Amino acid sequence: MGGEKFGFFIWVSSISCLICLCHGYVPVNNYLINCGSPTNITVTGRVFISDKLASTLLTSPSEILAASNRSSDSDIYKTARIFTGISKYTFSVARGRHWVRLHFSPFQFKNFEMGSAKFSVSSQTHVLLSDFTVKSRVMKEYSLNVATSHLELMFTPSGDSFAFVNALEVVSIPDTLISGDPSFAGSPGRFQGLSWQALETVHRVNMGGPRVTPNNDTLSRIWEPDSEFLVEKNLVKSVSKIASVDYVPGYATEDTAPRTVYGTCTEMNSADNPSSNFNVTWDFDVVPDFQYFLRFHFCDIVSKALNQLYFNLYVDAMMVVENLDLSSYLSNTLAGAYTMDYVTGSAKQNNRIRVSIGPSTVHTDYPTAILNGLEIMKMNNSKGQLSMGTFLPGASNSTTKKKNIGMIVGATVGPLFALVVLGGFFLLFKKRGRGQDGQSKTWIPLSTSGATSDSNGTTITSVTSNSSYRIPFAAVKEATNSFDENRAIGVGGFGKVYKGELHDGTQVAVKRGNPKSQQGLAEFRTEIEMLSQFRHRHLVSLIGYCDENNEMILIYEYMENGTLKSHLYGSGLPSLSWKQRLEICIGSARGLHYLHTGDSKPVIHRDVKSANILLDENLMAKVADFGLSKTGPEIDQTHVSTAVKGSFGYLDPEYFRRQQLTEKSDVYSFGVVMFEVLCARPVIDPTLTREMVNLAEWAMKWQKKGQLEHIIDPSLHGKIRPDSLRKFGETGEKCLADFGVDRPSMGDVLWNLEYALQLQEAVIDGDDQEDDNSTNIIGELPLRFNDFNNRGDTSVNVGVARERQFQEEESSVDDLSGVSMSKVFSQLVKSEGR
Ligand SMILES: *[C@@H]1O[C@H](CO)[C@@H](O)[C@H](O)[C@H]1NC(C)=O
Ligand SMILES: *[C@@H]1O[C@H](CO)[C@@H](O)[C@H](O)[C@H]1NC(C)=O
Ligand SMILES: *[C@@H]1O[C@H](CO)[C@@H](O)[C@H](O)[C@H]1NC(C)=O
Ligand SMILES: *[C@@H]1O[C@H](CO)[C@@H](O)[C@H](O)[C@H]1NC(C)=O
Ligand SMILES: *[C@@H]1O[C@H](CO)[C@@H](O)[C@H](O)[C@H]1NC(C)=O
Repeated sequence: MGGEKFGFFIWVSSISCLICLCHGYVPVNNYLINCGSPTNITVTGRVFISDKLASTLLTSPSEILAASNRSSDSDIYKTARIFTGISKYTFSVARGRHWVRLHFSPFQFKNFEMGSAKFSVSSQTHVLLSDFTVKSRVMKEYSLNVATSHLELMFTPSGDSFAFVNALEVVSIPDTLISGDPSFAGSPGRFQGLSWQALETVHRVNMGGPRVTPNNDTLSRIWEPDSEFLVEKNLVKSVSKIASVDYVPGYATEDTAPRTVYGTCTEMNSADNPSSNFNVTWDFDVVPDFQYFLRFHFCDIVSKALNQLYFNLYVDAMMVVENLDLSSYLSNTLAGAYTMDYVTGSAKQNNRIRVSIGPSTVHTDYPTAILNGLEIMKMNNSKGQLSMGTFLPGASNSTTKKKNIGMIVGATVGPLFALVVLGGFFLLFKKRGRGQDGQSKTWIPLSTSGATSDSNGTTITSVTSNSSYRIPFAAVKEATNSFDENRAIGVGGFGKVYKGELHDGTQVAVKRGNPKSQQGLAEFRTEIEMLSQFRHRHLVSLIGYCDENNEMILIYEYMENGTLKSHLYGSGLPSLSWKQRLEICIGSARGLHYLHTGDSKPVIHRDVKSANILLDENLMAKVADFGLSKTGPEIDQTHVSTAVKGSFGYLDPEYFRRQQLTEKSDVYSFGVVMFEVLCARPVIDPTLTREMVNLAEWAMKWQKKGQLEHIIDPSLHGKIRPDSLRKFGETGEKCLADFGVDRPSMGDVLWNLEYALQLQEAVIDGDDQEDDNSTNIIGELPLRFNDFNNRGDTSVNVGVARERQFQEEESSVDDLSGVSMSKVFSQLVKSEGR
C-alpha cells in the first residue's frame, strides 16, 4: 500500500488451500511475550517467553520491570513493563496479516499506579489506542496486514504519564481468513480494500454455546457466549450438535471458526407452532463514528433435511439477506459451515449494532431461524485510526527521534532477529541442524547444465540426474544471508519463500519447506523430478535444491512480478491491459501444452490456478508449482485416485465425480483462470449472492446469454474488441464443458487465444509478420490443428499464416522433443509405485 513497492513474489504455495486434509495451521511468526518477567510462562500450551529475551526487540529510553504480588492473577498478568518515554517493539515478520494482542492488567508498582496511566499504542501505519486508560484487566485484539518485513508497536505516554503492558502477542494469520470485498449490510455495493484494513475485534460471540478459550481455537481466539447480548432471552433455545458439523472444502475451515462455534447455535424458539412469527435480536455496544466488519457464522444443525430452514437476517433493522437457505450455498450439504461477511454502510451514528434473525415470510412450513456465531470488528478510519484522538499514525516517529536521540542504541537490529528470534518461529525450526558453518562453500556448477534460463528458452536441455541440482546448505545460507527475515517474500503451507542471490548475481527465489508440512516430502520430490527434467520458457525453472539436514529447500529463478492472481485483484496493483492478459494466458497455455504433449505420455499439472502462474520482469508467464503433477493415463491406466486434489473453484467436476485424471482436467482449470483473468475476481467468493459465488458458473451463465461484457473487469470496459472478447469467451466456455471429451486440447486453446490476440490487434490479414515478438513459439512442440471453432472468414488467413510458421519450426523441434521423454517417464513411473 501507499507508494511502497513490495517485492513481488507473493507466491504462496498452493498447498495451504488444497482440498486434502488440513494439518492444522502453523503460524510463521509467533511472538508471545511475557513483559517484565524473568521467566517463560506456559499458558494453556502456549509459551510466553521472558522479555529479557525479547529486550532485543525493544528500543526504549527506560526499562522498568514491574512485578505484582497479587496471587490471584494468571501468570502473564503478574508482571508488566512500564515505559516512561516513547518505546518501540520491532518484530521481524513475514508480510501478511497478523494478530496483535495486547494484554493489560493494571496494578500498583512502587509509585506507578497503572490504573491511572494514560498512553497511546500505534503501529507504523495505524493508531490502535489513543489516550488509553485501563482500570481492569483487558485484552485488546487487532488484525493488521503488514506490508513490510517489520511490525513496529510503539507505546507513547500521554503528557507526563507513562505506558505499560503485561503481555504481547504478534502471530501470523492465514491469508485466506480475511479476504474478498464484502457487501454493505443493508445498502447496495461492496466495500473495496478490506485486505488493507486494520481491524479491532470488538465482539466475537459463540451463539448458543459456551465460552471458547484459546486452547480450543486453532488461531487462539476467545469466543464469548451470547446471552448477555440477547434482547429477549425467553424467545430462544440453545442447540448443540457439535459432531454433525461438516467443513465443506472451499468454504469455512476450522481456522474460520472452531467446531464448538458451528456446532452450537441460538435458535428461534417457535415451539413447533407453525404460526410463530417474531424476531430474535442481539444488541452489541460499539464506538460510534467507525465502520464495522461483520462476519456471520452459520451451520444448519437444526434441520432434519435439506431446504427446511429459510430465514431473514437484519442488521440495524435493515434486511440483509431474505429467505436465506443455507443448504443451497453449500452444494446441498446440510450441516455445512458457512460464513457471510458484511460491512456497515457508513460510520455508525449510534453506539449499538442490532442484529436480528426471523422466519421467512415466503417459506412458512418450518418457521425458525438460527445464528451460530458472529464477529464484529472495528475498521480503521481514513486517518488510519482505530481509536479517535489527537494521536495520528506516523506522527510519533519524528517525536521519538527527537526525544530519544542518543538513547536508542543499535536500532538496526534487523538481521539479529533471525538468530535471536523468539517464540514460534524459533520453535518451528529448532529441530533443524544449526548452520553448518564448517562446511565447504563450493558450488556444484549448475550453469553448465543450463540451469538459468537460456535466451532461446524452451526445451529439455539436459537430462542430468537430480544430484547435479543439489546445492549445499551453506551455499543456500549464503545466498539468503542466513535466511534473513528481511528477504522473506512470501509464506504458504509449504513454508517460507526468500529472495536470494547466487555467486554470479543470479536472483533466485528460495522456498524453504516447513518440516511440519506432512505432505511436504512427496511434493518436494515430485517437484524436483518434474522441474529438473522439463525445461521450457513457460515453466518456472528449478535452479537447485537442498536436502541436507532434512531440509526441503527448492531454488527457482526469481519471478519479479509475482503471481498472476496478485495482478488481478486484492493487492492494489495497477490493472493489466487486455493485450497483457491475453499474452499471459497464451504463455501459460504454452507451458501446459508442452506438459501435455510429451511423447504421448502427458504430464498433468493438477493444480492450475492464477496463483500458480508467475510473471517475470517482462510479465512473461510461467507455470509453477508441480508438487501435485502426475503422468497421464497412458502410463497409469488403472490409476483411480481416491484423494481428489487440486484447488477449490478450479476443480474439474468430472474429475471430482469419477476421480479419473486426464489432461482435460487441467484444461478445465485453465478455463476458470481465463474467466478470472477476464473478470478480475476470486473464483469462489462466498460473500457474493448465491448465483455469483462460483465464478465458473457465473461466467458461463453470462457467456451462454452472449452478454459476457456485463461481468468483465470494469477497468477493461470499452478496451476489448468485441470479436476478441467473443473468441475468448467461446474458448473459455469450451474449456468448462462438463465432460472432458468435449473440451479442447491445450493446443487448441492456445491457438484460439492467439487468434483472440490477433483480433484485438486487428492484424488479421496474414501478411503482417511483426507478431514474432509477441507470439514467439520457437522451439515449441508442434501443435495439432483440430479446427476447433475455426469458422468465420477471417480465421482462415490466420490459420494459414500460423500453419506456415509451425511448419518452419517443426524441424527445429524434432531433435529436442524425443530425447528424454521416455527416460523421464520411466523414472516417474518408478517413483509412482511407492
Ligand atoms: C524461554 O524460551 C526460549 C524460547 O523457547 C528459550 O530460548 C529460553 O531458554 C527460555 N528461557 C527460560 C528461562 O526458560
Ligand atoms: C505488594 O503490594 C503492595 C501494594 O499493593 C506494596 O506496598 C508491597 O510493597 C508489595 N510487596 C512486594 C513484595 O512487592
Ligand atoms: C476444550 O479443549 C479441551 C481439551 O483441550 C476439552 O476437554 C474441552 O471440552 C474443550 N472445550 C470446549 C468448549 O470445546
Ligand atoms: C423483524 O425485524 C425487522 C427489522 O427490524 C422488521 O422489519 C420485521 O417486521 C420484524 N419481524 C417481526 C415478525 O417482528
Ligand atoms: C485504513 O487505513 C489505511 C491505511 O493503512 C487506509 O488506506 C484506508 O483507507 C483506511 N480505511 C478507511 C476506511 O479509511
